[in-house]
Amino acid sequence: MFETLPGFRDFPPEACARRNHLFRVFKTVARAFDFQEYDAPILEPLDLYVEKSGEEIVGQLFHFEDKGERKVALRPELTPTLARMVASRANSLPKPIKWFNVGEHFRYERPQKGRGRSFYQFNADLLGESGILADAELIALLVAIFETLGLNSELFTVRLSDRTTWVHFLDSLGISDEQRPGVLDAIDKSERRKPEQTQEALDKSVPGRGSELWERIREIKSIDSMETLVEQLEQCGEGGKSRGEDWSKLLALLEAHGAMPCIKIDLSIVRGLAYYTGFVYEVFEKTGEGRALAGGGRYDHLIKKLSGNVDMPAAGFAIGDMTLSDCLESNGLLPTYVIAPDIFVIGGEEQGSEVLATTSAVRKGGFSVSYSFKQAGFGKQFKEAGKSGARYALIIGEEESSTGTIKVKDLRTGGEESFKKPTLLAHLEKLDQEGGIATGE
Ligand code: HAM
Repeated sequence: MFETLPGFRDFPPEACARRNHLFRVFKTVARAFDFQEYDAPILEPLDLYVEKSGEEIVGQLFHFEDKGERKVALRPELTPTLARMVASRANSLPKPIKWFNVGEHFRYERPQKGRGRSFYQFNADLLGESGILADAELIALLVAIFETLGLNSELFTVRLSDRTTWVHFLDSLGISDEQRPGVLDAIDKSERRKPEQTQEALDKSVPGRGSELWERIREIKSIDSMETLVEQLEQCGEGGKSRGEDWSKLLALLEAHGAMPCIKIDLSIVRGLAYYTGFVYEVFEKTGEGRALAGGGRYDHLIKKLSGNVDMPAAGFAIGDMTLSDCLESNGLLPTYVIAPDIFVIGGEEQGSEVLATTSAVRKGGFSVSYSFKQAGFGKQFKEAGKSGARYALIIGEEESSTGTIKVKDLRTGGEESFKKPTLLAHLEKLDQEGGIATGE
């Protein structure tokens, strides 16, 4: 027997229905925010990710050489692909560009709860707009999706942070441009490491200053109010002061969007991916358990870096399906789907072709229709109809055949009615609207 590869999942119909529930909500809410759906290849040139996504993701790539000796990789994320697509059409696309995608991604990680090697992401990105309204629009979309799925501010938090703020703080601590990526990486990983390990990592980036830096970084990480944040930013000169004003603007916009109850200022978020430049955020369950449900932020330089000549501001986020499904399930918010036909057609031995013709006509009318594959008597066919979960059975016996009628049985109420064949579809539609046939009619 073969099994799925570690970190990969089968999706039998029940699981597929649950997954489709998420996808439906993603797509409906994204359209409500007027984002347009796009798609892209799953396989990309390896170079698209090297340097652009950051060391962590590159270490997790599924990559190989194809038969044409090209170095290729299964996409671990969508952002570099999107940047490439948009850069190559930059002049012809009306701005702002608001695009979304639902698709599969691959990372060679250690499989564990909420982490797989294949997973789905909903990506939403807003390009060509550098103003804070764009950051707010994205966060409002993120919050609206979680709320539509039944989650609320009691259950999840958007932990909001800012790379620019960190740059101001690190500048004021005398960290050079070259040392900054190493320090930001140490801050990003500090959540999952022992303090000594973070100090060691900081010491590696800024020799001799590990413990002093860690102390100050811990203070910054613990800032959780606008007052303290603005106060501390003001000590970083004009740039810091103006960033404090950006923070106030963003929070005011989020308040106006009605998203503020779900937002928490949390500078411990810096994001592992290399390309972020401004406001960044991750979504977590309020219990603090589990890995991130979503993450994103502003990445104003990625398109220039990829294309060489197109300079376009951008921001976006992705929601992963695995942690989200776990979270919805543990809160009883995953609907159980009954996958059943609307109608089951039952016929006598002589009426085989009438059964098929009726099935075909009713299917064309938009109903989901099944019938028995076995040459069985009425009793067995009724049993099969019951098991199928169909609401109605259409019965075509000798009498119906000779009178040009079809009997409709409501399998929930037991009520029956006969209709002339040409009027069947219209009656089925009416029954659908009226909620069935009353018992004993
Ligand atoms: P990310 O934080 O790497 O961001 O991934 C976003 C979400 O995808 C995570 O919060 C998590 O839910 C899910 N995810 C990531 N890796 C795995 C995994 N191995 N197994 C299960 N779920 C996973 C990005 O990918 C950015 N490209 C998002 C973005 C879009 N930024 C701007 N636009």
